[in-house]
Amino acid sequence: MSSLAQCLSRVMCLLAVTAVSVSLSSHTWKEEGVVYGKIGDAVTLTCSSRSPSSEVQWRFNGSSNITWGNVTNQGDLDLPHVGPSVMGTYSCNDLSGELIQSVLLKVGYPPGIPSVTCRAADYHNFSCYWNSSVETLLPSRYITSYRVDRSSPEDCLRDPRLPNVCSVRNSKLWMSYQMNITEENPLGSSFRIMEFYVQSIVKPDPPEIVSAEPVPHAPRRLRVTWAYPSTWPQEPHFQLRFRIQYRPVLHMLWSTVETANLTDIITDAFMGTEHIVQVSARDFLDAGNWSEWSLEARATPWTSTETPELVSDACNETTSEEPEPQVKEPFDPVEKMAVTISLGIFAFVVLVIFLAVGALIWVRVGRTVKGGGIKANFLTAIHMKTLPKNQIL
Ligand SMILES: *[C@@H]1O[C@H](CO)[C@@H](O)[C@H](O)[C@H]1NC(C)=O
Ligand SMILES: *[C@@H]1O[C@H](CO)[C@@H](O)[C@H](O)[C@H]1NC(C)=O
Repeated sequence: MSSLAQCLSRVMCLLAVTAVSVSLSSHTWKEEGVVYGKIGDAVTLTCSSRSPSSEVQWRFNGSSNITWGNVTNQGDLDLPHVGPSVMGTYSCNDLSGELIQSVLLKVGYPPGIPSVTCRAADYHNFSCYWNSSVETLLPSRYITSYRVDRSSPEDCLRDPRLPNVCSVRNSKLWMSYQMNITEENPLGSSFRIMEFYVQSIVKPDPPEIVSAEPVPHAPRRLRVTWAYPSTWPQEPHFQLRFRIQYRPVLHMLWSTVETANLTDIITDAFMGTEHIVQVSARDFLDAGNWSEWSLEARATPWTSTETPELVSDACNETTSEEPEPQVKEPFDPVEKMAVTISLGIFAFVVLVIFLAVGALIWVRVGRTVKGGGIKANFLTAIHMKTLPKNQIL
C-alpha cells in the first residue's frame, strides 16, 4: 500500500528542468574604459586616433614591451590569445609619448548554467537558491523571474541581504511554476528553467521542541514528544506526519518508526542505556520531501534502583530475547484503536485516489480510440501488411 502511495506521489511530483546557455557578443555591461575578453580568445584593442601603426605606440602597465600582441596597420593592438597574465591597463600614445587613450582589459569566462534548487517550507510561499557553476572571474548579476502556467513573467522577489535567494509569495497549488534564473556577466548570460508544482518541492522545516523521557516502570520504553515546525501553517488540510529515528549513544545504526501523532513510545530501547532521538516531518499525503532531522534529544529508559533483582531478571530476559512479563506497562487500547482507524482512513483515501486515476486513464484511452488515433494506426498497419499480397494477386 505504501509503495503505491509513493508511486502516485512520484507521478504527481514530476519535476522538469531545462537549461540553456546563451553567449552574448554585445557587451550589455559596458563600463567606461574597460574591455572584457574571454580567456583563450582574441581581443583587439582600438586606438581612438585611428592613426597608422608607424605613429602609435602601445604600452602595457607603462611598459612598451608587449610580446603577446601585434600592432595592426590601423594602429590597433591585436592580442591573439588572452589569459589572466595579460590583464591590465593598455595605453596608446603618439610618437611624442602623449597619451591618446587608455583601456583596462579584464578577462574571464561567460557564465555557466547556474545550479538551482527550489524549496517550499510550507504551501504558501517558496524560495529558489542558486550557485554559479563556473568561476567566471568577472562580476555577475542574476535576473530571476517566474511564470505560472505559462502566463506572463513576474519577478521572483529578492532580499539584498540574501544574495543567492529569491522568493515567491502566495503560491498556488496544482499550478505549474516555471522559474527562470539567469546569470549574466559582460561576456554573456546563461539561464536555467525549473518547472514544478509547489506540492512537489514542499520540504517542511524539522519538528521543534523534541524531547525524550523514560516511561515509569518500563525499562525498554522511551516517550518522545515534539511540535510542528513553527513555519508550518496550522491548518487542518495541511497535516504532517513524522518519523522518529533512535539509537543508543554508542551504536551506529538507527531504528526508525513512523507516526501521525505528536508523541510516540519507543518500545525496544536498550535497558539502562542513553539513547539519541531525532524526528523529521513530511506532508501527510507524501507530497514533496522529508524535512531534515530535528535537533537531538537524549534520554535513558527507566531503571529500578530499589529492586535490583528485577533489573537483573530483566537483563537476562533481554539476552534471551523474550518479552518482559513482569513489567506491566501502561497500554492504551484507545490509542491502538485510533491507530487502526487512521490506518483504515488512509487505506480508503489511497483506494479512492487509485480509482480516480484509473477512471481518468480509462476515459483518456477511450477518447483516443474514439478520436480514431489508435484505429487509424491499426488500419494503416493492416493496410501495409496486405498491400504486397494485393500486388502479388
Ligand atoms: C510566507 O508568507 C507568510 C505570509 O504570507 C510570511 O509571514 C512568511 O514570512 C513567508 N515565508 C517566507 C519563507 O517567505
Ligand atoms: C529567462 O530570462 C532571461 C533574462 O530575463 C531571458 O533572456 C530568457 O529569454 C528567459 N528564458 C525563458 C525561457 O523565458
